[in-house]
Amino acid sequence: MRVLFLSGPNLNLLGTREPAVYGSTTLADIEGLVRERAKGLGAEVDFRQSNHEGQLVDWIQEARGKFGAVVINAGAYTHTSVAIRDAIAGTGVPTVEIHLSNVHAREEFRHQSYLSAVCKGVILGFGAQSYVLGLEAAVNLKA
Ligand code: DQA
Repeated sequence: MRVLFLSGPNLNLLGTREPAVYGSTTLADIEGLVRERAKGLGAEVDFRQSNHEGQLVDWIQEARGKFGAVVINAGAYTHTSVAIRDAIAGTGVPTVEIHLSNVHAREEFRHQSYLSAVCKGVILGFGAQSYVLGLEAAVNLKA
């Protein structure tokens, strides 16, 4: 299966961004972990990051017919973006929502996700492992 990984705003700063919350692993390190696991699962991975909401919407739309699943850490857009939610719902590409941190143990404004209801499921709180678990969930999705 081909799996598209999307990371949203500020996730390019992982490694130096609030290490007490997000750890010291960089996004490139995480990509390496995901690619390593993908080999074992026989999955093909495309790994992209953008700080721009519209770019994430474009990528979700383009995934239709090209990827079996999307795994998305939409960062702060999780809590604000009707546009990303509508892209997931509108394209119908099976999507797994992931987060590094346990957003429910953090500020109240992070407790709401606009995406969860249109995703197959949510993985959060496992740091870099959330991405690897997201891949495992994606390849095991039933159509
Ligand atoms: C995050 C959680 C969001 O609330 C935050 O805005 C992020 C990262 C996470 O992976 O824990 O940018 O999605």
